[in-house]
Amino acid sequence: YTVDWDASAAEKGGWDSFMDKEIHEDPAAVQRTLLGRLNRNGDLNLDEVHIDEHDFKAVDKIIVIACGTASYAGMVAKYAIEHWVRIPVEVELAHEFRYRDPILTPRTLVVAISQSGETMDTLMALRHAREQGSKVLAICNTQGASIPRESDAVLYTHAGPEVAVASTKAFVAQITAAYLLGLYLAQVKGAMFRDEIHQVLDSLKHMPAKIQWVIDTQSGTISDAAKRMVDAKSFLFLGRHVGYPVALEGALKLKEIAYTFTEGFAAGELKHGPIALVDDGEPVVFIVPPERGRNVLHAKVISGIEEVRARGAFVIAVAEKGDPDVERYADVVFWRPQCPTLMSPLVDVVPLQLFAMDMAKLKGYDVDKPRNLAKSVTVE
Ligand code: AGP
Repeated sequence: YTVDWDASAAEKGGWDSFMDKEIHEDPAAVQRTLLGRLNRNGDLNLDEVHIDEHDFKAVDKIIVIACGTASYAGMVAKYAIEHWVRIPVEVELAHEFRYRDPILTPRTLVVAISQSGETMDTLMALRHAREQGSKVLAICNTQGASIPRESDAVLYTHAGPEVAVASTKAFVAQITAAYLLGLYLAQVKGAMFRDEIHQVLDSLKHMPAKIQWVIDTQSGTISDAAKRMVDAKSFLFLGRHVGYPVALEGALKLKEIAYTFTEGFAAGELKHGPIALVDDGEPVVFIVPPERGRNVLHAKVISGIEEVRARGAFVIAVAEKGDPDVERYADVVFWRPQCPTLMSPLVDVVPLQLFAMDMAKLKGYDVDKPRNLAKSVTVE
């Protein structure tokens, strides 16, 4: 009696690729990153972050340093942290950071975001920040890696090991961790009322189930859309506010694993140039903000959809379930359940991850190991 044993298939836990497995772990990645960080009264407890409360109170500026997907998680966090804590948050690509003589003081908190914890550009940037006397906090997914080891403090994302080169579950975990950091700062600095913080934490706790809903109900629509679009030569991805970094991330996923030429940009830029690219049949992906009627940007994104439609674009929208404006104008819709605007990136990225994976598989590419790329970039 023999048993066929394929170690690599076993590691994939029944999925035919790591990317597939890891996208399906998005809900768990958020849930595990929240776990154990709230105490019995529902307050945030980040004792694991060994930065004195006094030092946290003194922070007057945050600079996020990161590359690729991690930098987009940082961009999402900027919108939330500035809104909650009312201190400026800059997000900078780590490889640009130290070469421009950035302004760093002991009251600047530098947040280095990295899945692998070994990205050389990010490591060099954090060394520079510490040399200038700023404190560095790492948001990292890999225990004991160089970036957390060389930082003053660490907030681990508990997404579990990420094997596929294209980052997926780490992204949602990074946003979750950065949100916890922002809410903690708001708590120690007294920038928000306790009830307000509890309300946001409550919304965060509901996100894993909402992500699961997207995976369970939208996967069929997403693979159908991939089948329709598989021969498209290029894609544009547009979003505003937190939808902007989500658009950039959706564009990155599609270029890195399906080798499709994509450009992501802020939807407000459309009329400042990119609309010239829109031609008959050009696929344009829009991230439509939630809270229709309460979010002024909703109508603006809808008018962007109308403009590209008038020029013959094929519109794919990520939008709130039942949004009547989107139903009217989009060719394909990936629906999201209701959620507050600041929570929407956690769900909105998921259909874009699935879409990129489906496109790459249809083209016959290895979704886990795209050409020319390594999981972690350990040279500058
Ligand atoms: C994402 O899909 C990428 N492959 C890449 O952009 C990655 O996010 C970037 O290299 C940063 O890696 P890190 O999070 O391990 O530092």
